[in-house]
Amino acid sequence: MSSAQELTTKARAVRPTAYGTPDVLAIVSTPIPEPAADEVVVQVRAAGVNPIDWKLYSGAFHKVDDEHKDSAGLADDLPQLGLECAGVVTAIGDEVRGIEVGDEVIVYPVTGAYADYVTAPATSLIPKPADLGWPEAGSLMLAGTTAAHALHAAGVGEGDTLLVHGGAGSVGSLVVQLAAAAGATVIATASARNHELLRDLGAIPVTYGPGLLDRVRGAAPGPVTAAIDCAGGDEALDASLELVSDRQRIASIVATDRHVAAGIKALGYGPGQDAGTELREAARADLASRATELRILINAVYPLSEAAQAHRAGLAGHAPGKLVLVP
Ligand SMILES: NC(=O)c1ccc[n+]([C@@H]2O[C@H](COP(=O)([O-])OP(=O)(O)OC[C@H]3O[C@@H](n4cnc5c(N)ncnc54)[C@H](OP(=O)(O)O)[C@@H]3O)[C@@H](O)[C@H]2O)c1
Repeated sequence: MSSAQELTTKARAVRPTAYGTPDVLAIVSTPIPEPAADEVVVQVRAAGVNPIDWKLYSGAFHKVDDEHKDSAGLADDLPQLGLECAGVVTAIGDEVRGIEVGDEVIVYPVTGAYADYVTAPATSLIPKPADLGWPEAGSLMLAGTTAAHALHAAGVGEGDTLLVHGGAGSVGSLVVQLAAAAGATVIATASARNHELLRDLGAIPVTYGPGLLDRVRGAAPGPVTAAIDCAGGDEALDASLELVSDRQRIASIVATDRHVAAGIKALGYGPGQDAGTELREAARADLASRATELRILINAVYPLSEAAQAHRAGLAGHAPGKLVLVP
C-alpha cells in the first residue's frame, strides 16, 4: 500500500496500554472501520469525557455485572474509551434504513469514541439538532440520560422539594435544570464558588460538608420529599436518609454496597444496581429536542492527542462543565 493510501485508510484512537494513571493512555493507529450490516461508521467531531472513562482503566473500578460489561465498555481485557460522541455518518451497513452518509448525529451508547472514527449500531444514533454545537452534542447524552433516569427513579415532579447532592457537576447540573423545569423546588449542594451557577440553573445553593443537614433544613421551604445523589460519600447518604421519609424517593448514581443495603434506588452497573438501560435509551429523543433550552456546561475542549491531560484535569477536580475531546 502506498503512503497516500495509508493516509486515507488509517485513523487514530486513544487506548490505555495498561491499567493505571492517565500516563498509560496512548494514541494508536487503526484502520478506518467497516460497518457490519446493522451498523454505521461515524467520523467523530466531539467525544464527551466522563469520570467512568478514567475509572475504567484505573484498576479500582467497582465490580460490573457480567450482563452490563458491554455497555460499561468492559467487554475486552483493557477497556475501549469513549462512551458518547457526535459526528458525521461516513458509511452504512446493508440493513440500515433511514440514515444517510453525511447525516450529523449524536451517538450514544457507544464504545471506543475516543477516535477519529467509531462504529456503532444504527440504534445508537440520534439526529443532532442543527443549532447544537459539536462539543455540547458530543457530551450531552451520558450525563443527560443518567439525570433523566435518576429523576424518574426518585419520582420527581411538580410540588416536590428535591435535594441534589453535587448539583454543579455534569449530571447534577442537568438534574437541577430538568427538576426545576418539571416544577420541583430544588436545593443543590456545591462548593461556594458554584453557588451563583446553581442559582442561575434554578436551585437554592447549599454548601456541602459538616453541618449540611442544618443548612438544608434552613434552606428548604418545607419537607424534603426526594433526594438525588450525584456526589457520593456517607455525608450525602446520611443527609438523604435523615431528610426524606420514603427511601424509594432517594436515588444515587454513585452507589456503594451501603446505599444498596439502605434500600434506596441505586442506579448504575454494580451489583444490586439498576442500569435503567431502556429508560435511558428512551430519554435520548427528549433530551435532544430540549438540548438548546438546557445549559450544557462545557469546561474545556482538548485535541484527541491530549486525552491524558483531559483525564488529569478530571481527576484533579475542575470548574463546572464537561471535558470534551475533538479529533
Ligand atoms: N451511575 C451512573 O450511571 C453514572 C452515570 C454518570 C456519572 N456517574 C458518576 O457520578 C459522579 C458525577 O459525575 P459527573 O460527570 O457529574 O462529575 P463531575 O462533572 O466531575 O461533577 C462532580 C461534582 O461533584 C461535586 N462534589 C465533589 N465533592 C462533593 C461533595 N462531597 N458533596 C457534593 N458535591 C461534591 C463537585 O462540585 P464542586 O466543584 O462544587 O465541589 C463537582 O461539580 C461520578 O462519580 C461519575 O462516575 C454515574
